[in-house]
Amino acid sequence: MAIQKIFVVGAGLMGSGIAQTAIVNGYDVVLNDQRQEALERAQMGIQKALEREVEKGRMTQEAMDAALPHLALDITIEGAKDADLVIEAVFENLEAKQKVFQQLEEVCPPHTIFASNTSSISLTALASATKRPSRVVGMHFFSPVPKMRLCEVIYGLLTDQEVLSEIKTVGEKMGKTLILSDDKPGFIVNRALLPMLNEACVIVGSNIGSVEDMDNGMKLGCNHPMGPLELADMIGLDILLNVMNVLSKEYGEKYHPSMILRKMVTAGFLGRKSGAGFYIYENGKKVGVNPVLVQQHSLEQ
Ligand SMILES: NC(=O)c1ccc[n+]([C@@H]2O[C@H](COP(=O)([O-])OP(=O)(O)OC[C@H]3O[C@@H](n4cnc5c(N)ncnc54)[C@H](O)[C@@H]3O)[C@@H](O)[C@H]2O)c1
Repeated sequence: MAIQKIFVVGAGLMGSGIAQTAIVNGYDVVLNDQRQEALERAQMGIQKALEREVEKGRMTQEAMDAALPHLALDITIEGAKDADLVIEAVFENLEAKQKVFQQLEEVCPPHTIFASNTSSISLTALASATKRPSRVVGMHFFSPVPKMRLCEVIYGLLTDQEVLSEIKTVGEKMGKTLILSDDKPGFIVNRALLPMLNEACVIVGSNIGSVEDMDNGMKLGCNHPMGPLELADMIGLDILLNVMNVLSKEYGEKYHPSMILRKMVTAGFLGRKSGAGFYIYENGKKVGVNPVLVQQHSLEQ
């Protein structure tokens, strides 16, 4: 059955990006959040983002006018009653996500596919909370969703092949390239990327190289568009720490979060969103290296 209507749960950074990408590519979207304020912010953000696309000549005014009416907001889950696909993007917490799926189970028709945008939670565990484990799948988009071209698709132990085919069609229509992963912590991308970011923290934390040299090293020597510490700040150091903890629980010592990362999070340096991480940010702009990372203490006066 062709998917036409998508119910997106969670109107935060990822949910609003998913909704924007879906309406631009012809899907009818109902965006849900438990907070009215999040819904309004998401709607305004989507409108502004599309206006910017038009200003920059990357989208026509007609395409924008055609896309916006495809977006509806709903603070209840009633809007899921005729959804073909649900994409869940609430907080990264197993119980919260399982509860969302259990509530949707009562409202959605049997054919509805339940997808989760989780970065680290087991799809098999999420599916176990539903009566339709064969129709539960991972759709892991990357931030910012409208710009990043990848969608990692994750199959749980019971996911149907037919569901994967339907997700492939939707993902490609949303302009993404899909890669397929088994249900193992970190999936494909984060399992390789996060240890690299963690190792960059180790290098700086052990004073082998400075924050800026670490980032310049990877940008200029490896052609990465961002340095690993800039990227860690963008992801959020608390998020990075949480996922490293999940990976280290599963795979052991090799994935143990670095001491400097743990200390930074304990001290409240969470990256860009808190105004300070490896760098200091003012009005969203990077202004310099966080001074706590430069040895300043001395026993001398
Ligand atoms: N931020 C990233 O770069 C990124 C990348 C890939 C995947 N993810 C994953 O996407 C998910 C969402 O992340 P985010 O960064 O958008 O989070 P966010 O905090 O920006 O947004 C979460 C939204 O979910 C809403 N919400 C929470 N519980 C809800 C419920 N029961 N019903 C309806 N709405 C509810 C919140 O009000 C909030 O608006 C997480 O699972 C995260 O791991 C995040």
